Amino acid sequence: MENIFITNGLLEGLHSATSFDKKIEMIHHALKQEHSFIDRISVILYDSLTHILKTFINSSKDNPLSFYECHIANAPSLNRLKNIKQARLVNNLSLFQNGENEHTRRIADQGYQSSYSLPMFDGEGFLGVVFFNSYESDIFKPDALHELDLFAQLINSLIINKLNATRMLIGTFKSALNLVSYKDPETGNHLERMSRYSRLIARELAKAGETRLNDEIIEHLFLFAPLHDIGKIGIPDNILLKPAKLDDAEWGIMQTHSSKGRDIIDTIADQLGLKSFEHIKLLQNISESHHETIDGKGYPHRLKNNEISLETQIVTVADIFDALTSKRSYKEAWTNDDAFNELKKLAKTKLNPDCVNVLLQNKTSVEKIQQQFRDEVQ
Ligand SMILES: [Fe+2]
Ligand SMILES: [Fe+2]
Repeated sequence: MENIFITNGLLEGLHSATSFDKKIEMIHHALKQEHSFIDRISVILYDSLTHILKTFINSSKDNPLSFYECHIANAPSLNRLKNIKQARLVNNLSLFQNGENEHTRRIADQGYQSSYSLPMFDGEGFLGVVFFNSYESDIFKPDALHELDLFAQLINSLIINKLNATRMLIGTFKSALNLVSYKDPETGNHLERMSRYSRLIARELAKAGETRLNDEIIEHLFLFAPLHDIGKIGIPDNILLKPAKLDDAEWGIMQTHSSKGRDIIDTIADQLGLKSFEHIKLLQNISESHHETIDGKGYPHRLKNNEISLETQIVTVADIFDALTSKRSYKEAWTNDDAFNELKKLAKTKLNPDCVNVLLQNKTSVEKIQQQFRDEVQ
């Protein structure tokens, strides 16, 4: 098989690359040595629970599918790939400029002329689609397709590994989180709502040009946001469940939940062998720093401004907004308008004003989340 050029160098590189972005870039680089016409590799992932397809990774600078998401029913050509389990070659994408699905149109609009798409599977389960695109038309020839099939297999395996690591991590922490939910009265649908507010804020910031965020980070932010209070497992019941105001000493103990959360995450990640999992830092930051405020008066480390990661600042705004608009044992739920006014005040000193602005400017999306995840009236 003289044409196969998955070299040791590439395999070593893939092993040591820390992020999935980097791995795809390396694969693209290796492919280009032999097939210079491949201008882009991208991956769309499929969520079998929601039937949503979403962009995941892209190796080119332009990103025609940035923050693209759609129900598989609205992407018939991708749905077909899922069902027939075969690759699709389109040698002239301009034919689709006015028709087909939005994703194909967006790719054609960026000047890509041809596309080779392959469905990915984990056993029987559909995982998503890998795309190879070129600016040239009629360029994919049978020899190249054989090699692209191999590279698609490689990407498929990398994705399976990555998803397994993420699932294991999320599964473990979710079980731990269930333990907190038994004890913590602050739950209801709080976690469902605050993780969706976090994703809304992150997406809008990214659309507005925030380069520290991408689809993959936003997805992990959404998955990890509900774990922000995992450290409450370590707070004694008499304090966590106290129906009255905490005294100073009790409040001091309550505040240790953020450092405890970080310790718990470190211990579990260590035991699962996931210390080098690329998004573990995001989870550590969210749990340890979600009570830090940009004026440096938060806890546990009195971090200021950019010392607090952007993802954590997003989670803090989402968490506070939902706390304000939810009923608690010690207060009624505030109206959205009152909560927005409070956020505006807090944005002067404590909260990231850009994150607050996203909520203020996306009231309809906020209300949709609230309607979808209402708390039972007690
Ligand atoms: Fe907390
Ligand atoms: Fe919370």
